[in-house]
Amino acid sequence: MLSQPWNLPLDAFVLERALWARVLASIVLGRQERVRWHALKLPERQRIEWLLGRIAAKDAVREYVRQRSALTLHPADIELVPDQLGRPVVRGAWADRGGPVPLISISHADGVAVAIAADADRAGGIGIDLERVGRINRRIEQLAFTADEQALLDSVAAPQRDAWALRLWCAKEAAAKTTGEGFAAGVGAFAVEEMDTRSGGVKIRFSGRDRERQRATVSTAQEGEWIVAACAAAIREGVAT
Ligand SMILES: CC(C)(COP(=O)(O)OP(=O)(O)OC[C@H]1O[C@@H](n2cnc3c(N)ncnc32)[C@H](O)[C@@H]1OP(=O)(O)O)[C@@H](O)C(=O)NCCC(=O)NCCS
Repeated sequence: MLSQPWNLPLDAFVLERALWARVLASIVLGRQERVRWHALKLPERQRIEWLLGRIAAKDAVREYVRQRSALTLHPADIELVPDQLGRPVVRGAWADRGGPVPLISISHADGVAVAIAADADRAGGIGIDLERVGRINRRIEQLAFTADEQALLDSVAAPQRDAWALRLWCAKEAAAKTTGEGFAAGVGAFAVEEMDTRSGGVKIRFSGRDRERQRATVSTAQEGEWIVAACAAAIREGVAT
C-alpha cells in the first residue's frame, strides 16, 4: 500500500511555521508523537519533512486498515514509534485491540515524503526510498558503488545513466531498510547483481551477519525529477525476494 506523495512549498511553510506546523502537528500526531515532535532537534525544514513522513505513513496505514477491517482510523489514532535502530513501528489502541497492523517504511527528501505499508504476515521487512534526480554525482558514485556496479551503470546509454545511478542508490537504501538496520553494516553490504532498465527491477544481494545469499528484487521508477524504489523482503528467515 503506497501513500500518495506528500509535499509542501517549504519556503512558504517554513516562514509560517509557528502557526501551520503547530496546526498540522496537533491534527495528525498522536500523544507520544507530539512529545517527539516538540523534542526534535532538527533544522525547521527537516522537522517539517519529518511531519510529512508521518502524514504519508499514516495515510498508507489508514488505507491498509480500511481495506482489511471495518475500522476507520484518524491520523492521530496511529502512532509511529521508532525501534532501537530507527525503524518505524505502527502502534495504537486499535492495534492493541487486534486491528490489522502493517509493516511501514518512510522516506523523505527535499520537502516530499512517501511511505509504504505491507502485511506483516507476508513480508519479513519493507523498504522505500525517494530521491530527487541530481542527488548523486560521479564522485559519490565512486564511494557508493563497486567497480562491478559502476561497470553495470556504464552499460546504460548516456541520457539515462545518471538517473540509473540514483535508482541503484535508492534500491540499496530500500533494501537496507527492509533489514531494519539501514546501512549500519555499510553500503557495501547491499550489492547490485542485476538491473533491468525496461522493468526498473534491481536485484540486490545482501551480505554481512546472517545474510549471506539473501537477495531482494527492488522495484524502481522515475516520476519526473523523482526516483522511488520499494522492496518487500520475504518472511522466510534467510531469504528475500
Ligand atoms: C535508514 C537510512 C538508510 C535512512 O536513509 P536516509 O537517506 O537518511 O533517509 P530517508 O528519508 O530515505 O529515510 C528516513 C527514514 O528511514 C526510516 N529509518 C530510520 N532508521 C531505519 C532503520 N534502521 N530501518 C528501517 N528504516 C529506518 C525512518 O522512518 C526515517 O524517517 P523518520 O526519521 O522521519 O522516521 C539511514 O539513515 C541508515 O542507514 N541509518 C542506520 C545506520 C546509520 O545511521 N549508519 C550511519 C550512516 S551509513
